[in-house]
Amino acid sequence: MKSAVDFEYSMKVVTVVGARPQFIKLAPVSKALRVADGIKETLVHTGQHYDKGLSEVFFEELDIRSPNYHLDIGSSSHAQQTGKMMIALERILETEKPDWVLVYGDTNSTLAGALAASKLNIRVAHVEAGLRSYNRRMPEELNRILTDHASDLLFSPTKVAQGNLIAEGISKSKAIKVGDVMYDATLLFREKAEKHSRILERLKLTSNDYILATAHRAENTDNVERLQAIFESLKMIGEKHQVVFPVHPRTEKVLEQHFGVIRSDSYKSLQLIAPVGYLDMLKLIGNAGLVLTDSGGIQKEAYFLKTLCITLRDETEWVELVDTGWNRIVPPRSTQDIVTAVEMVMGVAFKELTYPALYGDGKAAQKIANAFTGQEPAVGG
Ligand code: UD1
Ligand code: UDP
Repeated sequence: MKSAVDFEYSMKVVTVVGARPQFIKLAPVSKALRVADGIKETLVHTGQHYDKGLSEVFFEELDIRSPNYHLDIGSSSHAQQTGKMMIALERILETEKPDWVLVYGDTNSTLAGALAASKLNIRVAHVEAGLRSYNRRMPEELNRILTDHASDLLFSPTKVAQGNLIAEGISKSKAIKVGDVMYDATLLFREKAEKHSRILERLKLTSNDYILATAHRAENTDNVERLQAIFESLKMIGEKHQVVFPVHPRTEKVLEQHFGVIRSDSYKSLQLIAPVGYLDMLKLIGNAGLVLTDSGGIQKEAYFLKTLCITLRDETEWVELVDTGWNRIVPPRSTQDIVTAVEMVMGVAFKELTYPALYGDGKAAQKIANAFTGQEPAVGG
């Protein structure tokens, strides 16, 4: 039954988020939905990420409103985590009866939202649809494929991503290229980051004279040889260059388990630090001489902020970054492979690289809000 308040809105959207990159993607979209005519957004935080530095800090810094529901699911195996989320989401969706469920990216929170909604015949909209690594061993690849094929409206960040969906038989009317919401977020916050972040001073770093590293993917953390290659290469690179490594808790756990390393340890010029907030991260990426990462979001942010990037993976979904020369794929198979790649890339004259507008015009969030206002409310919704 609709309440009096609900009658003011022609469209009800329940948004499901739960992990760090999703809070960043959510920020510009939620802002656009807030001012769009006739849309009421209800926000659900699954609790997949719960440390202050992986969750709360983003709500504060990006001015995201508090979630209407917090599911407190926490960490567990894939099936347990996804299943618990689905059970809790089903109850909320039965109460809220939204026209749409909006999900982001490729985490277990994304899949749980998409499955819970589609099984209740609630339409699903997916932001960052159509990304493919073509490596089904990645949990993210399974989450993306399943979510895309359960979705009714698919917002692709790039032409390649939209093309992937069409090649999989999804109609062009459902697969819309809007640009990348992470680019919107970078544009919204980069000046604030440049002005307010004191991270360079705090870590005693000089602009353009340090390397920023991150690693958290299961394929790197759950494989001791790869993890060791990454860690040993960072130590070696740290003999010559300043290196700063904000350590994801998943990575911290395995580093401690296998190598007895703790986050606050320092190895010459390699600093292992706690995860940082978004403003500090933008500042660190924008001022780095080079980024080394296995993160999807950070690969793109390096490009947005014109910093060269080495991707420590076997492949990337963001293939256009590699085509431009701003990004190189270096599978972390050995310490020497990584060290050699870093030396080579440090010599690249990046000012000679072209900088095409691959990720839209910074108005992806607005286009998403417009797509909702152009939709009919669900029958009986
Ligand atoms: C998840 C996503 C991944 C995404 C990443 C962003 C899945 C399958 N993976 O990976 O696609 O790139 O988020 O950061 O959804 N932990 C904490 N505190 C927290 C959260 C996690 O200590 O607040 C630790 C726990 O030991 C947990 C481990 O990190 O077991 C992994 O967390 P989980 O959310 O399962 O996956 P991520 O590696 O964070
Ligand atoms: N990020 C951050 N602090 C950190 C590490 C990452 O603010 O210590 C931001 C980063 O700038 C990007 C997003 O988190 O916007 C990427 O998240 P992550 O690497 O965890 O996940 P992925 O993008 O690989 O799914």
